[in-house]
Amino acid sequence: MKPLIVANWKMNTTLAEAMVLGSGIKEGLVATAHIDVVLCPPFPYLVPIAEVVHHHRLPHLFLGGQNIFWKEEGAYTGEVGAKMLKGLASYVIVGHSERRRCFHETDQEIASKVRLALAHRLKPILCVGEERRPTDHELLDPSEIAGASVRQPLEELEAVLKILSKEEQKGLIIAYEPVWAISARAGAKPATGLYADAVAGLLRRQLVHTLGERAAEIPILYGGSVAAENAAEFTHQANLNGLLVGNASLHSRSFLAICRAVV
Ligand code: PGA
Repeated sequence: MKPLIVANWKMNTTLAEAMVLGSGIKEGLVATAHIDVVLCPPFPYLVPIAEVVHHHRLPHLFLGGQNIFWKEEGAYTGEVGAKMLKGLASYVIVGHSERRRCFHETDQEIASKVRLALAHRLKPILCVGEERRPTDHELLDPSEIAGASVRQPLEELEAVLKILSKEEQKGLIIAYEPVWAISARAGAKPATGLYADAVAGLLRRQLVHTLGERAAEIPILYGGSVAAENAAEFTHQANLNGLLVGNASLHSRSFLAICRAVV
């Protein structure tokens, strides 16, 4: 499976900065067809960034939204629906821990978002992850991690799986994002490759329950303080197929260094 690298710009950049960033990343990606890249700018910049992305299109560069609302349309001031993204973006991040925490999104709402995304042919990147930081011992030797210490990501995945049909489940992309590892800028430290792989293995086992062999086709990404120095440590793991990058995607130089580090 081709590695998938997703840039989540969150609520950062001015329009001018976003344009420079988008163009800079695109220019640097001409020679990196070994990976697929998705840029997720803030909503107001999707149209101008789409112009950058779609002009002399690179076959491995795509656009994504950072969120959608869980209803189709209607009187929901300030919200953006899946069908508004269709045609502009091909991916959408759903259930990011910042949305679960700051906006109290429930598993039910997140599952509805996933369904709406799929119904509008957007590929949903479903974020799951635990708040509890594992011990240093677990991080270095995750062979012993018990289901209990990673119950949260497994439950978050289960909540979505149980309302999706098998056909819908096949369209999922999972991002394992341990909450304690997000944002090196705020002092967080990344997981280890071994630990992230162990949790991704448990997530994949859960997918096998419902999808059987087809579970191998579901990409599982790692996110949380990814940088050029640790990118390959994650993408070399058996159960991981890519990265979701926040802070380091805000500068073309650091993001492209990550893209190049992934082989
Ligand atoms: P980070 O963010 O790379 O800044 O840790 C990742 C994310 O929240 O998607």
